[in-house]
Amino acid sequence: MWQQEYGVLSLKTDVIGTEVYLSNYIKIASLLQTAQIGNNLTVNGWIRSLRVNKGVAFISLNDGSTVGGLQIVMESPLPEYDEVCRLGTGSAIGVYGELVESPAAGQSVELRAEKITIYGGVDGNYPLQKKHHSFEFLRSIAHLRPRANTFGAVFRTRSALSFAIHRFFREREFVYVHTPIITANDCEGAGELFRVTTLDMADPPRVQGSVDYSSDFFSQPTGLTVSGQLEGELLAMGLSSVYTFGPTFRAENSNTSRHAAEFWMVEPEIAFADLSDNADLAEDFIKYLCRFVLDECAGDMAFFDKQIEPGLIQRVGTLAQSNFVRMDYSEAIDRLLKAPVTFKYPVEWGLDLQTEHERYLAEQVVGGPLFVLNYPKDIKAFYMRQNDDGRTVAAMDLLVPKVGEIIGGSQREERLDYLENRMDQMGISTRSLSWYLDSRRWGCCPHAGFGLGFERLIMYLTGMENIRDVIPFPRTPGHAEF
Ligand code: 4AD
Ligand code: MG
Repeated sequence: MWQQEYGVLSLKTDVIGTEVYLSNYIKIASLLQTAQIGNNLTVNGWIRSLRVNKGVAFISLNDGSTVGGLQIVMESPLPEYDEVCRLGTGSAIGVYGELVESPAAGQSVELRAEKITIYGGVDGNYPLQKKHHSFEFLRSIAHLRPRANTFGAVFRTRSALSFAIHRFFREREFVYVHTPIITANDCEGAGELFRVTTLDMADPPRVQGSVDYSSDFFSQPTGLTVSGQLEGELLAMGLSSVYTFGPTFRAENSNTSRHAAEFWMVEPEIAFADLSDNADLAEDFIKYLCRFVLDECAGDMAFFDKQIEPGLIQRVGTLAQSNFVRMDYSEAIDRLLKAPVTFKYPVEWGLDLQTEHERYLAEQVVGGPLFVLNYPKDIKAFYMRQNDDGRTVAAMDLLVPKVGEIIGGSQREERLDYLENRMDQMGISTRSLSWYLDSRRWGCCPHAGFGLGFERLIMYLTGMENIRDVIPFPRTPGHAEF
């Protein structure tokens, strides 16, 4: 909407000058949708290619608003002609001109330049000269990736999906809450907290040989959050339905295509709900996001379908219509034991599922997404509700083809005595989580929630295969340079 209004503004203007380019231009995506032949308008962007042919130059200009660029035609009488012809790929320019029908194949309209402003040329060695670069190479120049088609499409889709997530929850009367990034609790209990401290780590104060955190900024050890769930639960015990959507940090030294040290998580928490309500919400949520990308990101999805994963649009469309299978962990183990394949990691009741198992279940057994429910309590976190069988908890993971787990969640243990016992058994201090236990003392109710890994969702909906390629500045072991 904003872009369209802005575009209309530029359609009205016939002022030619640098100041007009900076404040009053139309994005190429909105030009292609709304502008008419004969309109005079200004576009700004980066040169993708420049071809000179006997007094006429053809520039492909891209401004990141859409995969496709706009063809600019510039003829030699233009005073800037020679200077612009010397520009390299990657230069930033602004062009004022008239939109005309394109006589050539490849595009229906082009802009006939009447004035060109050069904002920034390029050094001789612009790294993005070729049409196709490997994702590995582009990762080594993460500061230039937004100029590449694939990354433009990924980051636009990421932006659109962020918006869709907020819209989904707002339509369902959820309250968006902000949980802390600096925290003293390790929600998942996996010891993957990045430390946050102002102590001089080269020479920290010590008592009896250990670091004395009482003189640290927060007077206790703190770290970056691995999940906003525990705080989310407290907020749900007053606001009924809440969600967080923010950065999450895990010092997990796993160099895989699906793990990042800094990733974004969406965590709804619903009061007066059990595991089945939780799975219903997760299923609705994923299907909503599938429909959203197909409707609102059609151009980028067509690009992914063509360049990244043939058949993607059909796959996402089918997903939006499907019923997600729900299977107990015990049955999943049976299926894996009967599988006519050899897994690298052992399969046995009581062991956690590895990615190869998760993918086998989703790809070969079900052929689509499935919830695995009711895992053994010993492989899950302390806060999950204990089932009557005494050996499982009301956990749920959503597993999808290619990616494996994209959602992890559970019904929460709302019974104080069960929770305290479980914490004791697991060696978790009830004193440091007294604020969490307090929520079980005064008007607690059955409640449940889950965490969706935002990057894994993007991988699933775009066909991109490496988590490093769906987040602008990936943080993985050994990599924090950009
Ligand atoms: O399964 P996880 O660890 O669940 C929790 O943190 C719960 N406290 C969430 C909740 O119930 N509110 O993580 C949730 C999801 C995973 O399913 C996965 O998609 C993603 O977060 N995730 C990661 N994504 C990228 N890199 C990592 N290192 C990730 N670890 C988890
Ligand atoms: Mg998990």
